[in-house]
Amino acid sequence: MPKHEFDAYHDKYVKTVEDSIGFSGLDHSFFQISKTNKLADLVARHFGKDARPRLLDVGCGIGALHPYIASLFSSIHGVDISHSSIAEAKTANSAHDYKVYDGQHLPFSDNTFDMTLAVCVMHHVPPSEWENFLAEKARVVRPGGLVCLIEHNPLNPATRLSVARCPFDKDAVLLGAREMRRRLEAAQLASVFSEHFVFFPTHRSPLRQIERSLGWLPLGAQYLAVGEKA
Ligand SMILES: C[S@@+](CC[C@H](N)C(=O)[O-])C[C@H]1O[C@@H](n2cnc3c(N)ncnc32)[C@H](O)[C@@H]1O
Repeated sequence: MPKHEFDAYHDKYVKTVEDSIGFSGLDHSFFQISKTNKLADLVARHFGKDARPRLLDVGCGIGALHPYIASLFSSIHGVDISHSSIAEAKTANSAHDYKVYDGQHLPFSDNTFDMTLAVCVMHHVPPSEWENFLAEKARVVRPGGLVCLIEHNPLNPATRLSVARCPFDKDAVLLGAREMRRRLEAAQLASVFSEHFVFFPTHRSPLRQIERSLGWLPLGAQYLAVGEKA
């Protein structure tokens, strides 16, 4: 069984993230809620308010996001190259389905899911493999479904600082939203767009509304990038 970098973090993943973002005064759950709000808006907009799509989360790690997003999806399937992370995910989230895979070929047939997601994964994949990574995510999504990624925004100074402080990010190759959109288009995806988020250190409602209108501004700590399978 090959060892992967994240095997060493399965039991200290959240603490390691919190140590690297501690300077901001925000905890891991703040960012999980930000991502959940962003995904909830996207699912309602694309699939309909009461729709519950089938999700594949590629590079799901220990499944830390899944308790937050569980109510948005009819089923959650997670894959990762890290055996210990997948073992941890299975223990923590028995309602979902988890598999280890080889990082090259997703172990699912074409057109299986309504949506694929990858949260802070692509910057750990070697750039020479980005094309295949996106092609695989697109392959397993049904026509009309969505390929989604959430990534760190390299233009945000606080994001750069947290990446510099995080031991498992030492080899990270960050890519910005424009580059991600170009790559989603090259993967033959349609209606490609990106939206920045995490502008404010609160989820209070007036600021959440303002944040929704600021997606075009490449200053939020993270961004969501989306393409639709034709
Ligand atoms: C920063 S963690 C993010 C985990 C999870 N998505 C989250 O947001 O909590 C990055 C994850 O990507 C995984 N990973 C790295 N390369 C991968 C690849 N080629 N395919 C799938 N997962 C990969 C790592 O094992 C690790 O679990």
